[in-house]
Amino acid sequence: MKIEYHLVPEEKRKPRYTDESELGFGKIFTDHMFTMKFHRDRGWYEPKIGPYQSFELDPACICLHYAQMIFEGLKAYCGRNGEIYLFRPWDNAKRMNKSAERMCMPRLDEELFLQAVKELILVDREWIPKGRGTSFYIRPTMIATEKALGVHVSTEYLFFIILSAVGAYYAEGFNPTKIYVIEEYTRTAPGGIGDIKAAGNYAASLYASSLAAKKGYTQVLWLDAVHRRFVEEVGTSNIFFIVGDELITPSLSGTILPGITRDSVITLAKYWNMKVVERPIAIDEVVAYYKNGSLKEVFASGTAAVISPVGVLCYKNEEMIINGGKTGALTQKFYDELVGIQYGETPDPFGWRVRIDN
Ligand code: COI
Repeated sequence: MKIEYHLVPEEKRKPRYTDESELGFGKIFTDHMFTMKFHRDRGWYEPKIGPYQSFELDPACICLHYAQMIFEGLKAYCGRNGEIYLFRPWDNAKRMNKSAERMCMPRLDEELFLQAVKELILVDREWIPKGRGTSFYIRPTMIATEKALGVHVSTEYLFFIILSAVGAYYAEGFNPTKIYVIEEYTRTAPGGIGDIKAAGNYAASLYASSLAAKKGYTQVLWLDAVHRRFVEEVGTSNIFFIVGDELITPSLSGTILPGITRDSVITLAKYWNMKVVERPIAIDEVVAYYKNGSLKEVFASGTAAVISPVGVLCYKNEEMIINGGKTGALTQKFYDELVGIQYGETPDPFGWRVRIDN
């Protein structure tokens, strides 16, 4: 499909950030965005790259009332010589369609999804930050736009992509985080929508995250909704435990987001001949491993946070200090290897990286 361009004249473009170390996460947006509309009788139409601007939405739009709304998150990285890379973008396109199906929303052409991401980045390439740990965070989003208050599947949608120049997700950067194991609240339940990127999942997580923040913790560790025992995710990321010489992560039970970084960590670990186990892991088991000294490292993985070491895990008011509160050697190794591939600095034996500026 041909994407139409309505670009902002040079003289009307926004002033860009001046200091990459001040970027933070998701606060600075580029000059343009991609938009495309859908109507049940017409399919997708008007794919366009135009000015980044506010939408006019009818106050009765279905997404505003019933949260029929999904999104993706991926990054573009600037290499040492100004080249631009994406990391496994086709997996984001596939996951977006999985989310769309579960939320009764229309599928996107995955080729067009990739084309739109690439073309938008190239239009706004002057905005991409250059430093290690910085990137474009790309946010493809689909919202239900039919004007209706009856609860039903929308007949109209808007798909859009925006770009944000970002630094580290957590204020800690790549330093160990403090995580609070939350028992009173859960993120999702079996049969729910925890395994897709539905906006409502993130709204539902806010209350527990703010409780954790008030207690001085970076994020929560979610337990399963049925037994309140099995570890699921940490904040908006997947979680890994290094126990003895094994890398353990909760299996994808239907309530956990199938993270692309999670899959990359598992693939790397197997490539390094580590023993990788995907299985249900109970929090009391984690405590037992901590007490007997076999819990070596804990880290979270996600697109936004990449690899985030866990220095403290608090369960039932007792703090477990992981690896002396310091980033472990294996956590560091996963981080280094992943960012090396993402920034085009190390070989990419898995074919994950795609260069888009040539
Ligand atoms: C991501 O890691 O891309 C996420 O979706 C987390 C978040 C910023 C919502």
